[in-house]
Amino acid sequence: MNLMLFGAPGAGKGTQAKFLIEKYNIPQISTGDILREAIANNTEMGLEAKKFMDEGKLVPDSTIIGIIKDRLAESDCKEGFILDGFPRTLAQAQALKELMATMQISLDRVISLNVPDELIVGRITGRRVCSKCGASFHVEFNPSKEENVCDYCGSELIIRKDDNAQTVKSRLEAYHAQTAPLIDFYTNMGVFTELDGTKDVSDVTKDMIAALA
Ligand code: AP5
Ligand code: MG
Ligand code: ZN
Repeated sequence: MNLMLFGAPGAGKGTQAKFLIEKYNIPQISTGDILREAIANNTEMGLEAKKFMDEGKLVPDSTIIGIIKDRLAESDCKEGFILDGFPRTLAQAQALKELMATMQISLDRVISLNVPDELIVGRITGRRVCSKCGASFHVEFNPSKEENVCDYCGSELIIRKDDNAQTVKSRLEAYHAQTAPLIDFYTNMGVFTELDGTKDVSDVTKDMIAALA
């Protein structure tokens, strides 16, 4: 199953991806996580990307498309994958379409998690992420079982550098200007499903599984 999770920053893509990994046994491909790993490893790409991420701007398409080409070629993607936070521009969507055509695979579904902007700031500022596996928690809405410890791998939870009220504003602007136009692109492809992302985490998961059945 080749899936895509779509939505504004903080809509719940990373949170819901964790359930899909377990249900379908396919990997999550989060361009945000890949970029954060590159920053942690001090690679050239990481240093370049960091400037954009810290300001809440999109990283250039050429960098992102290169990442995805390499990642989809890995053997664990043979049975499918979950794209999380990619594509985010029409150029990325077009590149993905061409890449998948070359690989002779197709996109089964795009699940969009709809959350209005006014709820996003609270979600982002209360978020805690796992320093190792990237899992997302929220101090109020989705707390980890033990404070500051990841439920999945036991590592320490941290606050993402771009999770502050100022950067969230630019990230939302980037989403509306550059990413939201993809809704038409995928609606026209007949693969776009919108879900109410404001429900509780477990209810969103139920709706998502039903949409994929
Ligand atoms: P990325 O890491 O993708 O960040 P994002 O898109 O801003 O999305 P988030 O990870 O913030 O949100 P999410 O939807 O995963 O929400 P989560 O599940 O954590 O990208 C970071 C940066 O990298 C970008 O700004 C850009 O610079 C760059 N980048 C990445 N990909 C790129 C690309 N393709 N092109 C160009 N640049 C790129 O949930 C959020 C919070 O809400 C958590 O605390 C969670 O516990 C809570 N929550 C989740 N669901 C619910 C619920 N149902 N009810 C209540 N709370 C909930
Ligand atoms: Mg995420
Ligand atoms: Zn973890």
